[in-house]
Amino acid sequence: MTNKIITVGSFFSGIGSPEKALERLKSEGFIKDCVIKFFSEIDKNAIKSYCAIHNIDKKLNLGNIVDIKGENLPYCDIWIGGFPCQDISSAGKMKGFDIINSTRSSLGWEMIRLLGEVKIKPKYIIFENVKNITSKRFKNTLNLFKKDLIDLGYTLYYKVLNATDYEIPQTRERYFLVAILDKNHKFEFPKPINNNLRMNDFLDKKVDEKYYLTNKEIKMINNKLFFKNKNSDDIRYEVDLDKYKRGGICGTDNCCKFHQSSRLFSELGYAPTLMANNTAYNCKIVVNEEK
Ligand SMILES: C[S@@+](CC[C@H](N)C(=O)[O-])C[C@H]1O[C@@H](n2cnc3c(N)ncnc32)[C@H](O)[C@@H]1O
Repeated sequence: MTNKIITVGSFFSGIGSPEKALERLKSEGFIKDCVIKFFSEIDKNAIKSYCAIHNIDKKLNLGNIVDIKGENLPYCDIWIGGFPCQDISSAGKMKGFDIINSTRSSLGWEMIRLLGEVKIKPKYIIFENVKNITSKRFKNTLNLFKKDLIDLGYTLYYKVLNATDYEIPQTRERYFLVAILDKNHKFEFPKPINNNLRMNDFLDKKVDEKYYLTNKEIKMINNKLFFKNKNSDDIRYEVDLDKYKRGGICGTDNCCKFHQSSRLFSELGYAPTLMANNTAYNCKIVVNEEK
């Protein structure tokens, strides 16, 4: 086991999922420990969750990144920053993350400012955002962002990874930008892992009845099953059994205004990308209780 203790500075911390990955490296013996020196978050529920999940004091929260002064930051080996994606995501208005536009996503540039202000720069930085950041629309801004990091002395490695390639049965493509200060330290993204894990490998076996939308089958026509919602006869679901068996999108409901939200997903496939505004109405999974 390596004796390495990694110190971590977290920005846009949310619930701190990358920090969880570092904890996993610790439990698997790759590092001796990881110590969170500070985090930065403004959402009160996220702060509560972050402290509970990582078992740390809320005093370590530096709050709004805009108010942080780089010269006051303690040295950390790694900075983590999954900066806001609302203005980059194809699910939003795509206002972009230009530094002058002051969108929520342009807050990512605050980390560049802090890198210019700190006494000792972190050896490693991991930025994360939605795949759409690599689209033509945002190419120039992303190039400027990368150029600033190169000017600060970092070597960059970047790639879009899909969670389905790493044993998580959810279609979730994310752009990762890894910046390393030591030019001699080469980095390779992990190769995809072949696996057969699908949503039903992760679903709870016992689920409270209140979470089910229906169990009222009404008819079967040409390998299609029709159900009605347990609380409303007006809401109906159509499930294509062949598609269910193949995994993926296997049906629709008739009540959703938007095509995307009307989709039903087979438990034998991958879950869709979950968004901040997901509700039971736009992420519906078809499960077969008679297996
Ligand atoms: C995309 S999420 C990051 C999620 C995080 N990587 C995780 O694992 O949960 C962006 C986070 O940035 C936070 N945020 C937004 N504006 C901020 C600001 N000015 N200062 C600090 N955090 C901010 C949001 O509350 C949100 O939790």
